[in-house]
Amino acid sequence: MYRSHTCGELTKNHINNTVTLAGWVHKSRDKGFMIWIDLRDRYGITQLIFDEERTSSELMEQAKNLGREFVVQITGTVIERASKNPNIPTGDIEILVSELKVLNASLTPPFTIEDTTDGGEDLRMKYRYLDIRRNPVRENLVFRHKVAMAVRNYLSERDFVEVETPYLIKSTPEGARDFVVPSRMNEGQFYALPQSPQTFKQLLMVGGMDKYFQIVKCFRDEDLRADRQPEFTQIDCEMAFVEQEDILNTFEGLTRHLIKEIKGVDVGEFPRMTYDEAMKRYGNDKPDIRFGMEFGELNDVAQHKEFTIFNAAELVVGIAVPGGNSYSRKDIDKLIDWIRRPQVGALGMVYVRCNDDGTYKSSVDKFYDQEDLANWAKATGAKKGDLICVLSGDTHKVRTQLSALRMELAERLGLRKSDEFAPLWVVDFPLLEWDEETKRYHAMHHPFTSPKPEQIELLKTNPGDVKANAYDIVLNGNEIGGGSIRIHDKETQAMMFDYLGFTPEEAKAQFGFLMDAFEYGAPPHGGIAFGLDRLVAILGGQETIRDFIAFPKNNSGRDVMIDAPAAIDTTQLQELSLKLDIKA
Ligand code: AMO
Repeated sequence: MYRSHTCGELTKNHINNTVTLAGWVHKSRDKGFMIWIDLRDRYGITQLIFDEERTSSELMEQAKNLGREFVVQITGTVIERASKNPNIPTGDIEILVSELKVLNASLTPPFTIEDTTDGGEDLRMKYRYLDIRRNPVRENLVFRHKVAMAVRNYLSERDFVEVETPYLIKSTPEGARDFVVPSRMNEGQFYALPQSPQTFKQLLMVGGMDKYFQIVKCFRDEDLRADRQPEFTQIDCEMAFVEQEDILNTFEGLTRHLIKEIKGVDVGEFPRMTYDEAMKRYGNDKPDIRFGMEFGELNDVAQHKEFTIFNAAELVVGIAVPGGNSYSRKDIDKLIDWIRRPQVGALGMVYVRCNDDGTYKSSVDKFYDQEDLANWAKATGAKKGDLICVLSGDTHKVRTQLSALRMELAERLGLRKSDEFAPLWVVDFPLLEWDEETKRYHAMHHPFTSPKPEQIELLKTNPGDVKANAYDIVLNGNEIGGGSIRIHDKETQAMMFDYLGFTPEEAKAQFGFLMDAFEYGAPPHGGIAFGLDRLVAILGGQETIRDFIAFPKNNSGRDVMIDAPAAIDTTQLQELSLKLDIKA
């Protein structure tokens, strides 16, 4: 038996017990005649004591030689501590050690194993196993486990069955590039790793599974950000014989349950907003509704004056920044620099100070009088003491820019509170999205998404206007999930592929299996997938998913610990019938 107790459980109730513990040397304090050692494991820290009076000189010597992160096993007696530590559960006791065995020595770790460590991100990732010994990282992983368990329990109790689907498959288009795996047995051919199990879960519905879920790895070769990893985990779900309303209710239930179970917070019924409304009010299809600062469109009250920039713009739109009139001229100039950065890309910003005496002072006073500015204040909901920030230009671009400004200001103003939860559904997404680069339409969600049945005719004349039975679930300004009602008949699916620019041959080659399945009694079906990493991070009050993944990749998609990706040797290349021809 390596241990009778963990390092987190001994209290006054165990005084005089003989116990055996195993763990890591967290810290030691050597006063010569007395040595204290903090022994650590996943469950906590227990103080060990060695003293000249009660400990043999041999054992004292052994204790002196212990280094940080040595793995040891000790046996001793639980005694009451002279100076107690109220901050830890074991703070009333210590162990007077009678036996000590070094199970393994350790090199000095390259950073301190403390809550706030001196190790930078790169170093921590290289030695991630040491990083995982730190409380914040370990707690995040335990937290993730709790969320995953709550999900499994909730769905299993509601008749969902977890079914595993394959990882070595053919491309599933979710809008990213595929990771591919060469096949040794099929020369010159490749598997693709799933961007999601989309087609398989649909086939499970054709197979009569009725309610499916899977906590599953997905792989997407795309540019990485704080909320994106090349391999990430979905809570992937699908249901047969459902309409959009059934899906929204089921997964609103799951999300509400998780927020309650994990955070103890009751969120009421989720608001629903159409995509068009979200874009108009927040310039974003994943609006953070924990705070106001809604967009006020100003075309009616700002155009047709002498200000040519606004007159030439497709959209003039502003937000009121609470208390923003206190910003100095320098602060505002900095804000203008911020929105001019290439990442945001605005050309400039007009602003209006809302003075406490009810008057306005704007950067365009030459063109607008007090009455005009009062109209702007009305449209943006600005109050005395606020600052109105106004951008103009091409509708989509200007909305995106103002949305970035809104989020940045809210962050600076402390309005994005991590202990507040504001979920909502965004519904009625456009079916198709025009891509300027390729000059063709792409499926906004994926090609299996059903258009609103009443709008199918519109596909022929105004494809860009057709809405889909597609929805996203948004939490605190993050898209935590998305899904749709699917097409379940061959004709509509073939028509969709046609709109997306596939020839019938290409569609058959790539998705013939799905269209064939649709000919064998496919039930109406639909589903959703949550991003588990994102969901866990947000419930944990953060937005960087890396911190909730045991072994994440860095921003260049590398695992710096195992040093992957890496070259493979020539024999392996030959076996795979691959020839590298990399030009320097
Ligand atoms: P979608 O592409 O919207 O839908 O993905 C579902 C959810 O997965 C999360 N997500 C990611 N998380 C981390 N890193 C990434 N690179 C990443 N990409 C996506 C997001 C997103 O909302 N098959 C459909 C679902 C369906 O139609 O049922 C799908 O994959 O939180």
